[in-house]
Amino acid sequence: MENQTNIPTNTTPNTQKKIVMSGMRPTGKLHLGHWVGALKNWVVLQNQYPCYFSIVDWHALTTDYMKTGDIKRYNKEVLLDWLSAGIDPSKASIFVQSSIKEIAELYLLLNMITPLGWLERVPTFKEQQAQLQDRDINTIGFLGYPLLQTVDIIVVRGNLVPVGEDQVYHIELAREVVRRFNFIYGNYFDEPQELLTPIPKLPGLDGRKMSKSYDNSIYLSDSREVVEKKIRPMKTDERRQRRTDPGVPDDCPVFDFHKCFSSEGERETITQGCTTAGIGCIDCKKILIANVHNLMDPIRERREKYNNSNLDDILETGRKQAGEVAQKTLEDVRELVKV
Ligand code: TRP
Ligand code: SF4
Repeated sequence: MENQTNIPTNTTPNTQKKIVMSGMRPTGKLHLGHWVGALKNWVVLQNQYPCYFSIVDWHALTTDYMKTGDIKRYNKEVLLDWLSAGIDPSKASIFVQSSIKEIAELYLLLNMITPLGWLERVPTFKEQQAQLQDRDINTIGFLGYPLLQTVDIIVVRGNLVPVGEDQVYHIELAREVVRRFNFIYGNYFDEPQELLTPIPKLPGLDGRKMSKSYDNSIYLSDSREVVEKKIRPMKTDERRQRRTDPGVPDDCPVFDFHKCFSSEGERETITQGCTTAGIGCIDCKKILIANVHNLMDPIRERREKYNNSNLDDILETGRKQAGEVAQKTLEDVRELVKV
């Protein structure tokens, strides 16, 4: 039953003001897939909206609660990668999830109103359980993972969430939970909206998904030399056994990289050259290497700069900024829930 008396007059949802919130798990150093799929977009968004970017260390516990020793180090690695990528702490609030204790309180409160079925229906729940058979993740924490994500977003009043395709269901869940909260306790939270950027998918060096566990990644922290060493031996379209054999770019992992890092004009030239055996794969890779260098040189420069700065101060500033909003949110929520 809707409890009308719970609706305070001063907390109608702000429908105009967009607030961006997103997060990443601290699982170690980030690679170009993270750049293409998220960071590149975040760097633009920070100039357009208030942004909160969270290193979600509690999320890491949902699958890795048996092995927690690396998380603090990974927090720092992710932070340095973000800063190197161009996330600017004077524009966006950058913080570690576990430094905002209000998240835990709101998570507990939302636990009370979230039907089990909503979480059991999340596609990633069964998928991941099947995939991670080496550990027992039949836990409340793992089941509640998408709800914790909901809290990440709404605790700072976020309503625009840049995420990949795989996260859309989680944002749908966030909307359902928000609707339920608003219905039970009074209209307070905005329904979050996912922000999907149409991006060409970047596979790993071997054509499989780019992932730390496949050892097929180019890391944001890789030197020029390492980048060259990784790209030069990449497999190309099998049709190009000899230099004179024409190939099909769409069957070539190198071309997938060109889709992310080269200009349309370059791609046209390459397609023309590849399909007529006008260029060799070595030339083609040289173009790619140059473009990846162009992208990564500024990232390297910023890493140098931030390497010598106090990362704890940056996180502390972000914690204060996010914490202030989170405290206000919880004050309002306690009033609404009456507990
Ligand atoms: N679940 C997200 C992922 O696996 C990470 C995440 C946690 C997140 N909290 C978030 C993303 C809040 C967006 C908003 O990629
Ligand atoms: Fe791939 Fe380029 Fe060789 Fe064509 S020329 S097969 S796109 S590496």
